[in-house]
Amino acid sequence: KNIAPYAIEPFTDFSLPENKKAMEDALAKVKTLLGRDIPLHIGSDKITTEDRIVSINPGNVDEVIGSVSKASQELAEKAMQTALTAFESWKKVSPAERAEYLFKAADLMRQRKHEFSAMMIYEAGKNWPEADADTAEAIDFMEYYAREMIRLSETNEHRPLTKVPGEDNKLSYIPLGVGVVIPPWNFPLAICVGMTTAAVVSGNTVLLKPASVTPVIAHMFVELMEEVGLPAGVINFIPGSGAEVGDYLTTHPKTRFISFTGSKEVGLRINRLAAETAPGQIWIKRLVAEMGGKDGIVVDETADLEAAATAIVASAFGFQGQKCSAGSRAFVVESVYDQVVTLVEEKTKKLVVGPQEQNFAIGPVSDKNAYAKILEYIEIGKGEGRLIAGGGKAEGNGYYIQPTVFADVDGRARIMQEEIFGPVLAIGKAKDYKHAIELFNDTEYGLTGAFFSRDEDRISYALEEIHVGNLYINRKCTGALVGAHPFGGFNMSGTDSKAGGHDYLLLFTQAKMTSRKL
Ligand code: NAD
Ligand code: ALA
Repeated sequence: KNIAPYAIEPFTDFSLPENKKAMEDALAKVKTLLGRDIPLHIGSDKITTEDRIVSINPGNVDEVIGSVSKASQELAEKAMQTALTAFESWKKVSPAERAEYLFKAADLMRQRKHEFSAMMIYEAGKNWPEADADTAEAIDFMEYYAREMIRLSETNEHRPLTKVPGEDNKLSYIPLGVGVVIPPWNFPLAICVGMTTAAVVSGNTVLLKPASVTPVIAHMFVELMEEVGLPAGVINFIPGSGAEVGDYLTTHPKTRFISFTGSKEVGLRINRLAAETAPGQIWIKRLVAEMGGKDGIVVDETADLEAAATAIVASAFGFQGQKCSAGSRAFVVESVYDQVVTLVEEKTKKLVVGPQEQNFAIGPVSDKNAYAKILEYIEIGKGEGRLIAGGGKAEGNGYYIQPTVFADVDGRARIMQEEIFGPVLAIGKAKDYKHAIELFNDTEYGLTGAFFSRDEDRISYALEEIHVGNLYINRKCTGALVGAHPFGGFNMSGTDSKAGGHDYLLLFTQAKMTSRKL
């Protein structure tokens, strides 16, 4: 088969009337699907349980998105046994054939793009462009990893081993086994699809435990994979409590790997539990853990201040600041500090909060717990900085919070150090660009960052000194694109897996060398 080179999925321009209409139609169609019962998928069985996760619209808390069956430990065990059996045949399916399922699923998702986005608008509180970008990234991951698996399977052609007379030597990337895939709720399609399909196209079978806030969109993806004919048991869908089902599977002797994206606290817990060897376990579990961030933007006095302020606001408040990449901090050198603070204040005050079905700039935060936690941080911020925008709840039948900015915040303040994961920005003043970079690096995290300057020497300095997995110059620190900006963080931001990059599938495979005497 002739496979076209990978190309990034374009975003939808909703200022065009036909695109606006297409999204409105999708929202209307998906509305008729809300409130359904969602079963577990274990092999070809659809299992309904009494115990449920009720997923609601965070922007309209009276609207139920779905009533999702919840796995117990017994059902998690059944899923594990099913995945172990499925692995025996799935690992023998050729890489090209495995990739074909991803190509088909990407095609279908592209055709129904707005329906997937509409579900995220309802379930996750994304506005139209944020949901559209999430769906585009999910398509990209499938297109990219499918090609990557084919490339890896041809490794002996592309990167031949050193020739030894009288020997035929080969390297092949074979799968690991059964993996537990634990995605977060904030990219409820893209990250869920990326983590799952990377593992599956590499020849593994998986137990997918979706995030409890967004299980319905995850189920839409599971149904899509079923529709393209992925053999039963390759992806098993087991929503459930992280503490109960998560811990059970993390400590299970047959779990070969865990692919986790989420908070530092949960990531470190999984790391600790997975390091213990369970009776009967014959491998070291592999852990991919992508975790939180305290990302930000540094601005020097030579920068385009208008562009810098625009990027600070977009990075801080895109999807209500609920991105691991969100720029929740900004450090600005003192000679332009007041100017940048004023620009950020003006731009923030223009952001309108409202329901995402109507595509407001700022929607609700994810759920009750996040709402309470973010409001608490805003109160802490009032003691740590000068409030210049927002400062509390916003109107609406959901978890709405005003985009909030604090200026004059010390680098060691709690709102500068702790991941808030909401629409809260802290700005600090620096003596000069080196001091600003020093302040930026003073964090346990290291995921994304951006540097604004017009000075080439300073840019070179920043490229070397700013210690993050994804560093951007003169642009916002969110919005990594698959294939172009492989994504993953340093230090407490995780294992730097570089999702959407050439090295990612190596994490879900093991290389086997074979040498045959001729
Ligand atoms: P979370 O850690 O609360 O939950 C993540 C997942 O872990 C969920 O599916 C949850 O149910 C599950 N879980 C909870 N306890 C568990 C346990 N004991 N064992 C196994 N699984 C368990 O995170 P979240 O609120 O869903 O997501 C937000 C966090 O994710 C933020 O910290 C954000 O920065 C981070 N994140 C990181 C990246 C990245 O690429 N680095 C991307 C997106 C989000
Ligand atoms: N990949 C996402 C971004 O870069 C998290 O914003």
